[in-house]
Amino acid sequence: MIGSGYVGLVTGACLAEIGHDVICTDNDKSKIDTLEAGGVPIYEPGLDNVIAKARKEKRISFSANPADTIDKCEAIFICVGTPPLPRRRSERDRPRGARDRHRSEVSQARR
Ligand SMILES: NC(=O)c1ccc[n+]([C@@H]2O[C@H](COP(=O)([O-])OP(=O)(O)OC[C@H]3O[C@@H](n4cnc5c(N)ncnc54)[C@H](O)[C@@H]3O)[C@@H](O)[C@H]2O)c1
Repeated sequence: MIGSGYVGLVTGACLAEIGHDVICTDNDKSKIDTLEAGGVPIYEPGLDNVIAKARKEKRISFSANPADTIDKCEAIFICVGTPPLPRRRSERDRPRGARDRHRSEVSQARR
């Protein structure tokens, strides 16, 4: 999961709960530090228990540096924020930037 906010962290935790191995990343290192320390940086009822169980069973991990692991992933979910812009447009540069950055990391790792 690239982006460990409301969408990325909840989706990652649920995928881990049903048996997938999940790595959650975020460019906000403080969020990753909180998660690695056993905390949850967002409020979502019950999420702490789902994450704690997945951590105990080693199906979820957290990284501020996805380049180390991204080439091993079968699927990559980009869940970064898209803040609204004037005239009801949304900010698409962030997900596109994340996609392009990680695309080059994957191709470098596979060389
Ligand atoms: N929350 C919802 O209910 C909801 C519903 C439908 C759609 N969405 C969409 O899903 C997307 C994510 O929403 P959210 O609520 O999870 O946002 P969020 O702000 O809670 O989480 C986004 C996370 O992405 C991280 N991030 C930003 N740029 C990054 C990058 N380049 N690399 C890694 N991490 C990065 C941020 O630090 C943040 O933790 C948005 O496009 C939003 O519009 C959200």
